[in-house]
Amino acid sequence: MWQYTPRVAVIRGLRTPFAKSGTVYARLSALDLGKLVVAELIERSGIEPKTVQELVFGNVIPSVKAPNIAREIVLGTGLPRSIPGYTVSKACASSNQAITNAADLIFRGYADTVVAGGAESLSDVPILFSKNFSEVLVGASKQKSLGGKLGQFSKVKLKDLAPDTPAIAESSTGLTMGESAEKMAKENGISREAQDKFALQSHLRAAQATASGRFKEEVMTVVVPPAYENIVEMDNLVRADTTLEALAKLRPVFDRKFGTITAGNASPLTDGAAAVLLMSEEKAKEYGIKPLGFIKSWAFAATDPADQLLQGPVFALPTALDRAKITLKDIGVIEMHEAFAAQVLSNIQWIGSKKIAQEKLGRSEAIGEIDPEKINPTGGSIALGHPFGATGARIITSVCNELQRTSQQYGLVTVCAAGGMGVAMVLERE
Ligand SMILES: CC(C)(COP(=O)(O)OP(=O)(O)OC[C@H]1O[C@@H](n2cnc3c(N)ncnc32)[C@H](O)[C@@H]1OP(=O)(O)O)[C@@H](O)C(=O)NCCC(=O)NCCS
Repeated sequence: MWQYTPRVAVIRGLRTPFAKSGTVYARLSALDLGKLVVAELIERSGIEPKTVQELVFGNVIPSVKAPNIAREIVLGTGLPRSIPGYTVSKACASSNQAITNAADLIFRGYADTVVAGGAESLSDVPILFSKNFSEVLVGASKQKSLGGKLGQFSKVKLKDLAPDTPAIAESSTGLTMGESAEKMAKENGISREAQDKFALQSHLRAAQATASGRFKEEVMTVVVPPAYENIVEMDNLVRADTTLEALAKLRPVFDRKFGTITAGNASPLTDGAAAVLLMSEEKAKEYGIKPLGFIKSWAFAATDPADQLLQGPVFALPTALDRAKITLKDIGVIEMHEAFAAQVLSNIQWIGSKKIAQEKLGRSEAIGEIDPEKINPTGGSIALGHPFGATGARIITSVCNELQRTSQQYGLVTVCAAGGMGVAMVLERE
């Protein structure tokens, strides 16, 4: 059986406060956010920067100017320039991929200290020109005379100037994430009331965790560059005052007539960054550092996007549990990424279904029962926000901190991702 030895330790994790896109970080890029979190993570961990041997970062919508955000973070934070860095993209599971890649380096003995995480700015998505206008720009650049250059622009029609913005849509089905989640809600019979109840729980728990100071260890303060006048100390999407009545009043967004998904029970478009410091267990011992937790196992999986797009975690979960040689009953803390309340409740339904196990997973019994009230103890992506590339690093840190607080041994992280993909990771406290 596959087993991770030496163990990979999560030394600590950190994130920026998460913010609704277009608000406090409106002028920052994913790179700016990534630099802020990595610099502070290294500062807080007290390690010598030169001991970091690789930086791996997840990012979903890359900048065309600096697509390898990981290396740019090394160069932009004053880290030794000898540290290489590479960027991974696996939709919303990008920072999970970054962290598991980093863990692989440690497991192989190729590195003992690695920083991994992810960043996203949905305030800074690249706006593309239409094909016609791009051709004109390229044509003009090839002309030698000013007249020739200007002549190219005579071909431009007004409609060519309309910006071509990226959509959160599946290339294989043409459906947006929200439309795919609507399909799941309908096929699984997830009611609007159940979704709103779950969303309310997310907000109230996030508000409670914020008020009680539980995020102090994992959320930094951002003094927003370049003016350094605005100070961001906490997530700005959490609504402590939301109610079931307020949620019930919101109109469906993705299927206006018959839909159930609203701005209240979906994760919002968000800016933010998160990172973890990983070390081999031996290195941590050598430095006298007590790790927050250890990475026990993981599995990535995928399903047909045309079936139920966001059920990927259901396919990954049994493999991750088998690899950790435990069952769902052994898990004490569960963090499920909340793309939509409908997706979380659909994942839980399939995880508990014997029929799904037999028809889709090739297993005789259901994976196990999960009580929606027992997951995401400090709120989830609906309330805290979901900067695509950063969410995995956020919840891995949260699970480790929660394991420490509750003295439970095993924690579970699941993240659904575009393309029908999903990841499940098992963390252990000691
Ligand atoms: C759903 C979505 C379209 C909503 O975007 P939006 O319209 O900009 O959302 P807003 O924050 O402006 O909220 C819309 C309204 O709902 C209200 N609202 C949102 N959450 C609420 C809550 N919890 N309680 C009460 N009201 C709420 C807002 O106050 C706002 O009201 P207003 O119009 O009176 O100002 C957007 O968040 C989205 O696309 N989310 C999905 C992202 C996605 O697909 N991610 C990939 C998943 S992995």
